[in-house]
Amino acid sequence: MADGGALLVVAIDGPAGSGKSTVARRLADALELDYLDTGAMYRAVTFAVLARGVEPDNLEAVAELAEALKIEMEPDGTILVDSVNATTEIRSSEVSRCVSEVANNQRVRRELVSRQREWTRRRGGGVLEGRDIGSVVYPDADLKVYLTASAEVRARRRAMESAEVSEESVARDLARRDAYDSQRQNDPLRQTDDAIIVDTSDMTIDEVVTHLVTLVPGRSDEGNPSVR
Ligand code: DC
Repeated sequence: MADGGALLVVAIDGPAGSGKSTVARRLADALELDYLDTGAMYRAVTFAVLARGVEPDNLEAVAELAEALKIEMEPDGTILVDSVNATTEIRSSEVSRCVSEVANNQRVRRELVSRQREWTRRRGGGVLEGRDIGSVVYPDADLKVYLTASAEVRARRRAMESAEVSEESVARDLARRDAYDSQRQNDPLRQTDDAIIVDTSDMTIDEVVTHLVTLVPGRSDEGNPSVR
C-alpha cells in the first residue's frame, strides 16, 4: 500500500484524450474515494501565468507565481485560482497551447507534486490522474493504470469536449503536446513496468471502470492478486 499502508492510492496516467478524467472520476465514485485531476493544477498555473502577462518560458517568474498561487478544487469540479473562478478558462486553447512548457518547469512540478501528496494524505487516499502519478507522485500506489487510445479517437474525444476548435486543430495540438509531454526533461509521461495498460479506443467508460474496480486490492471478490 502507498505510504506504508495508511493510504489507498490509485494512479491513472496516460496521454490527453485517453479517457483519464472521466474514468478516474467514475472509479473514485465506485470506490468512495476522492478524485484529483492533476492536469487541472498545471492548467491553473498556466492560466495565472497568462493572465498576469508572465512569459511561460521565464522559469523563475513562473515558479515564484506557482509557489504563491492559491488553487482550490471543489468536489463539483469548480476550480478557483486565487479565488477567481477559472473552471472554463483553464480549458481554453491558449492555456492548452502553453501548459506543456509550464509543466516542464522543475520548480512548478516540485510545488504541485508536494500539494498532490498533501491532498492525498489529508483524505486517506484517492484516485489521482495525470502524467507522472505512478512514476513520481506515488510510485508505490496500490494500483497503477496507464490508459491509452488511438490518436484519432483521442482527438475526436477532445474536440467533442470543446465547441471552440475543429477536430483537425485539436489533433495537431494533441500530437504536439504528446510529443512534448513524453520527451520533456522533467518527469515525462511514461508507462511504468508495473502499470496495467488499458487501451480504451473500443471500450465504453462503463467497461473500463468495471474492469478497473476488479483490480483494486481488497475491493472485489474477483481482485487480481498479481497487482497486490
Ligand atoms: O490532462 P491535461 O491535458 O489537462 O494536462 C495538461 C498538461 O499538464 C499536459 O500537457 C501535461 C501536464 N501534466 C503534467 O505534466 N503532469 C501531470 N501530472 C498532469 C498534467
